[in-house]
Amino acid sequence: MKIIKFIQQFQTERNLLKGSVGFVPTMGALHSGHLSLIQQSLAENDNTVVSIFVNPTQFDNNNDLNNYPNLIESDVQQLQSLGVDCVLLPDFEQMYPDDYHYKVLENELSKKFCGAHRNGHFDGVLTIVMKLFNIVQPTKAYFGEKDFQQLTLIKQMVSAFFMPIEIIAGQTVRELDGLAMSSRNLNLSAEERMIAPKLYQTISSGKTLKQMTSILESYGFTVDYLEILNDRLLVAAYLGDVRLIDNVVIDKLEKVA
Ligand code: PAJ
Repeated sequence: MKIIKFIQQFQTERNLLKGSVGFVPTMGALHSGHLSLIQQSLAENDNTVVSIFVNPTQFDNNNDLNNYPNLIESDVQQLQSLGVDCVLLPDFEQMYPDDYHYKVLENELSKKFCGAHRNGHFDGVLTIVMKLFNIVQPTKAYFGEKDFQQLTLIKQMVSAFFMPIEIIAGQTVRELDGLAMSSRNLNLSAEERMIAPKLYQTISSGKTLKQMTSILESYGFTVDYLEILNDRLLVAAYLGDVRLIDNVVIDKLEKVA
């Protein structure tokens, strides 16, 4: 497995690759959610590239950025044993030679849901994903349904800018108790970790939005939003300092509103 920190070096290697390239962008602290996307890419492509970059421009909160878990050595080991061809590990200077003066902005969906609570979050996400796509030039890129709003915005960006990349969605991978896997789960206290599965249980309960909100509050969550996007019910809620997000498909017959 090639481990590359410099964009120019990556581009040289990229030009040598033959056949299709699958790409999985991540911020590291890899778990089974990431690994399922990587396995899908390995199965469907001649080459698989994974990037690990904790992108500061998508964090609206310095505390969240500073506490974001860093497990780079075990991440690289896992990628190696899965059979990934190349891991891209750039730093801020490599990714932002313009110091973030150029941005990709979307002004509709990115302002709602998570965007309404995390100022500039999706500007940072779309900008870094655009940069990574331009560098990696993937045939297919893999994103999790866990971040449903992010997935939707990336699909729309690729379509808006005529980017010749197929976006593949991977199902949300969960712990045995239903909690959606997330790198941020590492920051939950033991007590919070016991409560966290209630998020998924509650949004799957078929109750009304109002009822679900008060149930979540009674468990100690602070709900940022609980709203419907397309056929999904999306939620973001804090447990202590940790912000958790999740979503479920809502049955046409279900009346949650
Ligand atoms: P990160 O949170 O590391 O997630 C990387 C990819 O893994 C995303 O596509 C995310 O949706 C997916 N993922 C995370 N948890 C998952 C789960 N439980 N099941 C399935 N897929 C899951 O999302 C980001 O990084 C960043 O915003 C990024 C796209 C890399 C841009 O910086």
